[in-house]
Amino acid sequence: MHSRHSEWILILDYGSQFTQLIARRLRELNIYCEIHPYNVDLNEVKEPTPKGVILSGGPKSVNDPDAPELQKEVLNWGIPVLGVCYGLQLLSHNEIPGSVDKADKREFGRARLNIDDHSDLLKDIPDDSVVWMSHGDHIHELPSSYRIIAHTANAKVAAVRHTQKEIFGVQFHPEVAHTRFGSQLLKNFAKNICQCSGDWTADSFIETHVKSIREQVGSDRVLCALSGGVDSTVVATLLHKAIGDQLQCLFVDNGLLRKNEFQNVLKLYRDDLHLPVEGVDASEMFLERLNGVSDPEDKRKIIGRTFIDVFDDFVQHQEKFKYLAQGTLYPDVIESVNFKGPSATIKSHHNVGGLPEKMKLSLIEPVRELFKDEVREVGKTLGIPEHFISRHPFPGPGLGIRVLGELGKDNLSLLREADYIFVEELKEKGLYHDVWQALAVLLPVQSVGVMGDERTYEFTVALRAVTSLDGMTADWAHLPYDFLANVSNRIINEVKGVNRVVYDISSKPPATIEWE
Ligand code: XMP
Repeated sequence: MHSRHSEWILILDYGSQFTQLIARRLRELNIYCEIHPYNVDLNEVKEPTPKGVILSGGPKSVNDPDAPELQKEVLNWGIPVLGVCYGLQLLSHNEIPGSVDKADKREFGRARLNIDDHSDLLKDIPDDSVVWMSHGDHIHELPSSYRIIAHTANAKVAAVRHTQKEIFGVQFHPEVAHTRFGSQLLKNFAKNICQCSGDWTADSFIETHVKSIREQVGSDRVLCALSGGVDSTVVATLLHKAIGDQLQCLFVDNGLLRKNEFQNVLKLYRDDLHLPVEGVDASEMFLERLNGVSDPEDKRKIIGRTFIDVFDDFVQHQEKFKYLAQGTLYPDVIESVNFKGPSATIKSHHNVGGLPEKMKLSLIEPVRELFKDEVREVGKTLGIPEHFISRHPFPGPGLGIRVLGELGKDNLSLLREADYIFVEELKEKGLYHDVWQALAVLLPVQSVGVMGDERTYEFTVALRAVTSLDGMTADWAHLPYDFLANVSNRIINEVKGVNRVVYDISSKPPATIEWE
C-alpha cells in the first residue's frame, strides 16, 4: 500500500550517480519526492498527480542505440518538467533527433554561469556563479520551441526554457554541493514553478502514516523486531502510536550486544517509550551455534538463521500475527537503473531476511521513503530521547563480526570492555558526534609485550572510527593523538588479556567499516 504525500515531485532516474542527491535537496526544502526508473509504468505514478517532473542525468548518450528514452506522455501532463544534463539532452533530442552531439571538449568540474534571463528558474541567482558540469555531449542545435536562459564559456546552452510550456532544462547539476546556487534553482522550480508549498515535515509524515497504518492493519496484529537501533525503534514507536497494543515488539539478546546494552535499551523501551516489548535472552543458543565457526559469512548466516528460530519460537506462543514491521530505509529501496536488462536491481539489507516468507507475514515498512536523517527527525518528533536518536549505527550481527574468527564468551567479554572504554571516552571528550561510527575489533593474534617486569603474550585490539554521510563511503576519523593515547592506555591497563592497541587508518573503499 502506498501512502504518498499529496504534494510531490516525480524524479525519473536515467542512471546518474547524483539522482539521489536531487531527492535529498528537495526533501531539505520539505518537498516530498520519489525516484522511479525512467521506464516506470506511468500509471503507477499518476496518483496523486505529481506537481512536477525532474528528468535526471545519466551515463549514456541520447544517440546510443540503447539509450534510455523519454516517456513523452509526461510532457502532456500539463505539469512543469525540468531536465538535468541527460534529461535536458533528451528534451532536445525529442524535438530534433541529432540535435545533441559530442562536445568538442568534454566538460567535468566547475564552470561559471552567465544568466541571460533572471526570471522563473534562475530567479535570485546572481550572475557569474559557480556550477558543476559533468557531460560529454552537448546541444549544438537548440529546437526553436526552446530559448537559452543561461550559458557558460564552454556551453552555449547551459540552461533553457520552452517558449510555450513550463519545460526547463539545465546542462549542469544543480543537485551537487559545488553548484553554488543549486538549491535555489531547485527551490525556484519546486516552489515557484510547480507551486509546492513545502509542507512535508516530520509532523505531517507522522500524521499521514498513523492514518494509513491504521487503515492497513485494521484489527490485525503486528510483530516488530527491535534491534536497539534508531530505525526499528522509530518504526515501533510510530506503530504503537497508530495501533497501540495490536503491536508486539521483540528484543533479542543474542549474546553479541555491547556492554549493558540489553538491560539499558529494554529499560528505555519499557519505561520511556512504553512499548509492548518482550525481551528474550537467547544468548546461549547463539553462542552454542557459533561455536567453532570462524568464517565471517558463515557467522552472519548462523546469526540470521538463529534470529529466525527465536522469532519462530516466540510466535508459537502468541496470538496470530498478520504483519511484520521492519525499518527499511529509502536508500535500500531505490531501484537503481539497470541498462543491461529489464529488471531493476534492489539492494536490501535484512538482518532477519527470510522471516516473512517462513512465517507467512506481510511486511510493513513505514519509513521506507525516508533517509536516515529524516528517520531521526521523525524519531525526535515522536519523543524518542535525543541521546538515543543520535547513537552510532550498530550492525545486526553485533560483536559477532568484531571478534575476528571464532567466538567465545571470553573474547566477547574482552571486546565488550575495550569497546565500552573507547565509546565512553569519545562521549566524555565531546568527540562522539564528530564521528559516524566508532568501534573496537578484537584481532585473533597474540603478540609479545612487557608489563611490570613480566613478559606478556596477549591479544591486540584495533580501534576504528570513521566519518561518513551514509556509511556507503567513509574516511578514517582524524582523532587527536592524545585522545588515542589515553584510550590505548586505559584499554591495556583495564582490559586483562590485551597488551596492544592499534588504530585503523583505512578508508572505505577499499576497506569496509566493519572488519568482517
Ligand atoms: P561495512 O562494513 O559494509 O558497513 O562498510 C557499512 C555499515 O553497515 C553496518 N553493517 C551492518 N548493519 N547488519 C546491519 O544491520 C549487517 O549485517 C551489517 N554489516 C555491516 C556497519 O556497521 C556500517 O554502519
